[in-house]
Amino acid sequence: MNGKNLALINRISALTKSFTAQKTQKTISNLLIIIGAILVGMLPGRAAQAQEPPKMPYVFGMYCFMCHKEGVQIGPMGMFDMLSKTGNPLHEQFIRNNVRFGIKAMPAFRLSEVSPKELDGIVKYLKELAAYRKSHPNYKPAPVQEGGSKK
Ligand code: HEC
Repeated sequence: MNGKNLALINRISALTKSFTAQKTQKTISNLLIIIGAILVGMLPGRAAQAQEPPKMPYVFGMYCFMCHKEGVQIGPMGMFDMLSKTGNPLHEQFIRNNVRFGIKAMPAFRLSEVSPKELDGIVKYLKELAAYRKSHPNYKPAPVQEGGSKK
């Protein structure tokens, strides 16, 4: 083996070493990220948060609550549970259609009254409420403060 070849072999082995070292470093940092994510998921605050009742959106309090609160017969009783008469959860599109087109005595709401973003918030709220009421069957949502801000 001549000197030129030896130098080449040395160079290749040095390159391979640094490549492997880089790879190991990357694997370790990836592992750390995964471990970190698991630890964050295990934080006690997360579980406690799920036990908080969902916050009623301002529009729901202003436009829907008067007819749909528990005990008021104007709207359906099962509204807060998002259950249909057959006991199934209400479909999201059914909520959206009822808000936009109205149903029986319920008026339709225009985009200027309930914006698309606000309607998303209503759907999200009703889903969370139904989930919350599974573990807290006696929970009755309180109306939002009147005169609060719209957003
Ligand atoms: C003037 C009273 C009134 C207001 C205000 C009102 N609703 Fe209704 N809502 C009703 C009535 C009446 C029905 C039909 C009940 C029935 O099917 O017998 C209804 C039905 C519904 C249903 C179908 C529920 C089911 O189980 O069939 C949904 C969803 C709904 N309303 C959502 C809303 C939302 C969201 C708002 C606010 C943007 C709202 N409503 C505002 C009176 C009202």
